[in-house]
Amino acid sequence: MSSCCQCGNVVPDPRQQQLAEVFKKYAGQKGALIPVLQGAQDIYSYLPAEVLKQIADALNLPFSKVYGVVTFYAQFHLKPRGRNIVRVCLGTACHVRGGAKIFETIRNELQIGDGETTADLRYTLESVACIGACGLAPVIMVNADTHGRLTPDKLKAILAQYE
Ligand code: FES
Repeated sequence: MSSCCQCGNVVPDPRQQQLAEVFKKYAGQKGALIPVLQGAQDIYSYLPAEVLKQIADALNLPFSKVYGVVTFYAQFHLKPRGRNIVRVCLGTACHVRGGAKIFETIRNELQIGDGETTADLRYTLESVACIGACGLAPVIMVNADTHGRLTPDKLKAILAQYE
């Protein structure tokens, strides 16, 4: 629930309704924790602590168990993520073709470090090992798009394409 800034009335958070549907879908099922976490993350784009608490309650599991699974798997995120995930390859082929300079240029452009998200939630920056497009080195991915044969001067225009 949150307050409407116009009238002060409490407005329901539609994500809570969606989360309730995820709980309903997996109610009583064995091995529900991972799919419930995935469903919750799809809704919130990350897993806030209060959502983890709700999941623990709904599945009747200790919070420590839920938290342990979330921190074990790289697919789950405890901090907000950007609308656009920028992955910069630092694998060998990209490295020898200037990947580090590409990474540094993007870091400066976005003013964030590896694994961080811009304050406006527009971008999350992540360094990765080979993303399987070595022939195009140096390579970045933005969401599902691959951008290869990069030079630092191309980056600003590429990032600007992603709102
Ligand atoms: S090393 Fe960068 S795509 Fe393979």
